[in-house]
Amino acid sequence: MTDTEIRKGLAGVVVDETAISKVNPETNSLLYRGYPVQELAATQPFEAVAYLLWHGELPDAEQLAEFERVERSLRAVGESTMAVLDTMPVDAHPMDLVRTVVSQIGALDETLHQPGGWTNRELDLARSAVLFAQLPTIVAAVQRRRWGKDPIPPREDLDYASNFLWMTFGELPSEAAVDVFRVSMVLYAEHSFNASTFTARVIASTTSDLYSAVVGAIGALKGPLHGGANEAVMHIFDEIGSAENVSGWLDTALAEKRKIMGFGHRVYKRGDSRVPTMRAALDTLLAEQQADELRDLYETLEREFVERKGIYPNLDYPSGPAYRLLGFDTEVFTPLFIAARVTGWTAHVMEQAASNALIRPLSAYSGVDERHVGDPATES
Ligand code: COA
Repeated sequence: MTDTEIRKGLAGVVVDETAISKVNPETNSLLYRGYPVQELAATQPFEAVAYLLWHGELPDAEQLAEFERVERSLRAVGESTMAVLDTMPVDAHPMDLVRTVVSQIGALDETLHQPGGWTNRELDLARSAVLFAQLPTIVAAVQRRRWGKDPIPPREDLDYASNFLWMTFGELPSEAAVDVFRVSMVLYAEHSFNASTFTARVIASTTSDLYSAVVGAIGALKGPLHGGANEAVMHIFDEIGSAENVSGWLDTALAEKRKIMGFGHRVYKRGDSRVPTMRAALDTLLAEQQADELRDLYETLEREFVERKGIYPNLDYPSGPAYRLLGFDTEVFTPLFIAARVTGWTAHVMEQAASNALIRPLSAYSGVDERHVGDPATES
């Protein structure tokens, strides 16, 4: 690449190394710290995956027990955090609510005032654990507020996935349904230099603090070309209504050059490595709830779109319907993605800090030539 060659969207540009995850579109695989994500989804609690991303190794039994103890002890959020939530409109977008609350949690962290406190690995690990433990409490409270209901306090006797669902619904679904949720968290946890992670790394590269990096990452995740796609998929499903409308709907949408949410990926061009695992998880819920109409719509849209465009579903395509069947509001789907991806974001913030170089690319100027105030010939 020459200095002046422009790669729009940084497509195909390698900007740095990472030891956290490897996306290989050729073999259609995704590794977290060397482990295939499918294997982790089949065998590990989400807590162990968070530990793996931060420390580089899976915890042994003792380390996992200690990490779970700490995570459970950190789940309750402060009264002032709930009070911040209460200052905001109930119908504000949940992504905006969660982003604001994370910012407030950062402002409360007095360790940031210590000399060198902004970018200290031990402190960043502790901050990451706080965000990991408290995001479910916040997202569940945001969801319940939309229903006009009070928050439900966390339960220390439940693991991450069960407690998240308990705090949201006040009851636990079947073990199989809890497991679908756990699988979705594992699959969403990390994906190399995606837009939100790169945003977090850019912010970290200025030696700003971890909370600021996470707040910026949430802003990037909100967009429907990135994390907002899981919400957008369900809006599309609602618009189409049922399987028999798919053909006509697609004719119009493609004629209007609309992007069909939940399909396509910057890196994977022959299918997303995470989809088969999430599809199997979705199947569990479809069968359990006998959601045949939803299954028909899902399969018909997938078949017709792939046939017409040769573009395959990404993780948001099966996860959107799965979150609906679990009972979440559509607008809360992307905040669920935050709760999962905060593990990857924070791992990247710490990796960036450990080997930092300010991220500051160049641009090619395409504006008017130099001109001067008062020169009428050049003013428009
Ligand atoms: N629906 C319709 N057409 C799509 C498409 C989609 N979901 N995804 C890609 N395409 C088409 C583009 O229109 C473009 O066609 P053209 O060459 O005729 O202009 C071509 O495929 C290449 O797409 P492009 O957007 O340039 O690829 P990208 O690598 O920049 O985009 C995404 C990747 C994810 C942004 C894109 O696939 C997309 O917008 N998908 C929908 C949103 C989504 O699901 N996001 C979650 C990603 S995990």
